[in-house]
Amino acid sequence: MTKHELESTAQALVAEGKGILAADESTGTITKRLASINVESTEETRRTYRELLCTTPDMEEFISGVILFDETIRQAAQDGTPLSEVLSSKGVMPGIKPDKGAKPMAGFPGERVTEGLDGLRDRLTEYRDLGARFGKWRAVIAIGEGIPTRACIDANAHALARYAALCQEVGLVPIVEPEVLLDGDHTIERCAEVTEATLRSVYAALFEHRVVLEGTLLKPNMVLSGKDCSERAGVEEVAEATVRTLRRAVPAAVPGIVFLSGGQSPVEATEHLNAMNAMGDQPWELSFSYGRALQQPVLKAWLGDTGNVVEAQKALYHRAKLNGAARYGEYTKEMEEAA
Ligand code: 13P
Repeated sequence: MTKHELESTAQALVAEGKGILAADESTGTITKRLASINVESTEETRRTYRELLCTTPDMEEFISGVILFDETIRQAAQDGTPLSEVLSSKGVMPGIKPDKGAKPMAGFPGERVTEGLDGLRDRLTEYRDLGARFGKWRAVIAIGEGIPTRACIDANAHALARYAALCQEVGLVPIVEPEVLLDGDHTIERCAEVTEATLRSVYAALFEHRVVLEGTLLKPNMVLSGKDCSERAGVEEVAEATVRTLRRAVPAAVPGIVFLSGGQSPVEATEHLNAMNAMGDQPWELSFSYGRALQQPVLKAWLGDTGNVVEAQKALYHRAKLNGAARYGEYTKEMEEAA
């Protein structure tokens, strides 16, 4: 895999009007999501649900890639076709989450560091052979009294850089995800400050580790008021604060920024992306890599019932289409109704 190939994969993931579906929930997280619609989480129900997502008709109009979990990239559709092939046969790139989750950081109460570097080269090679074209590693940074600490930010940035370098070595495009969490009553200004410090540390580490930025994507949080903040910032303010923070800290060599939704409602996540793209051209593509904001309506429509699969797939298609419009700043509230 040459630098040029990594670059074209990264660019294809943020092709015009398209974004990424994050469907890489760990077993613990997908079990919570399925419990919210009273579906028991078994290997088979998880497979069935992920097959529904991957086989959504025409999703490739707005979805460039789907991030899968270890279990899913080894699973097949009912007709025996591996799910990764179901995706690639319609031009949607399969991706993989190779991290082992955010674990409590020793000596730093309330802070976490993402594990999974040991044996990562071999795992990434296997995932590539199973069809993955890109990876995603999520670090989480919490805001609270006295946190985040410099030690936590730097430990996570270091792990992200080691992961990104290994991905590029085996030919996968690394999506680098440092997520500043929404939890807390902090202001949008505090979120901006922490996000900027985190991104600066991440890009310093990527540089030290010789990661080729043109062959990467960034998956950040948007700059938002904390979930419990008494006066939460509106759409325009979020868009401006997010773009300002990113412009300060993300090199122009990065081809695209694909936001996580992080607990925003599906409509909020679309509105915010739309407002940013309506501000005009930026050095990078501004796109989406949503998990909950794309899947919530799907789960609600499906409810674990085979008879609802078509409706559930329509819900995914619709949400993807609206986010596709938000990539051009052309999303309107009226489009919500036109399901
Ligand atoms: P959310 O959009 O639900 O935050 O999920 C995105 C993701 O992949 C988190 O790692």
